[in-house]
Amino acid sequence: MQHNSSNKINNLSKLTAFGEKITMLTCYDASFAKVMELEGVDVLLVGDSLGMVLQGADNTLNVSMHHMTYHTKSVAAGAPNTFIVADMPVGSYEHDNEAALKNAQWLIKSGASMVKFEGGGDRVETARYLASHGVPVCAHLGFTPQSVNQLGGYKIQGKTEASAQKIMNDAKAMDEAGVSMVVLEMVPATLAEQITNTIKAPTIGIGAGVNCSGQVLVLQDLIGIYTGPADKAPSDFKSPRFVRNFLKETNSIQEAIAAYIKAVKDQSFPAEEHSY
Ligand code: KIV
Repeated sequence: MQHNSSNKINNLSKLTAFGEKITMLTCYDASFAKVMELEGVDVLLVGDSLGMVLQGADNTLNVSMHHMTYHTKSVAAGAPNTFIVADMPVGSYEHDNEAALKNAQWLIKSGASMVKFEGGGDRVETARYLASHGVPVCAHLGFTPQSVNQLGGYKIQGKTEASAQKIMNDAKAMDEAGVSMVVLEMVPATLAEQITNTIKAPTIGIGAGVNCSGQVLVLQDLIGIYTGPADKAPSDFKSPRFVRNFLKETNSIQEAIAAYIKAVKDQSFPAEEHSY
């Protein structure tokens, strides 16, 4: 498994070396994983967004390690040859590095090739610890959904000079600590471009403009079926600016995924209307 995992990382590095954009989609089960693998999505993200899109919650705060390992195993069963990133849920990595390592290894044993966790600052040493113990790490900066209450809601980050500088400093520190990838969520496109041009690790944007090394979308957003938490009326839910419904333009889920891959690779997605 370790050998297979490092092959997948090498394949990903080849994409960025040739300037090809990386396509990432969230995935939580074997059947969608199989379709995504057949269509050739580069990376599947078992995101803790499953708290919202699968469990109907308002946020990601009740997702557990058991949920994450269950869904990671399902995705790995459906897409054994695809690079899988699994989210570390809230409470699984913040308190001490030993616990973070144990939980990260549990996700890797469940089929992930890399783990992702949110935040810079204090989390830099966690990233260094995991990376130095052989666990590939993806940092998640900008809007970090697990801190939605501290951030005062779903808001774009890095709009002021000081907050943009903080995100840049976190990205550089994470890069120096040895992370292999950085997700940038809901930050100005110019800031995401500067970070992409500064750090070694590839950047994956969601609401971060077209000049990241790759893009990620939540599958249910891409096929237009995520209409907000279970206890709210769909009419009360407004999709974020960075969402594009690819199913509207195609005839099937497979075609919608293929259209997403094509649009990311030819850089027609995200357009300015999807960026900040
Ligand atoms: O959980 C998730 O789906 C994510 C993406 C929004 C990047 O972290």
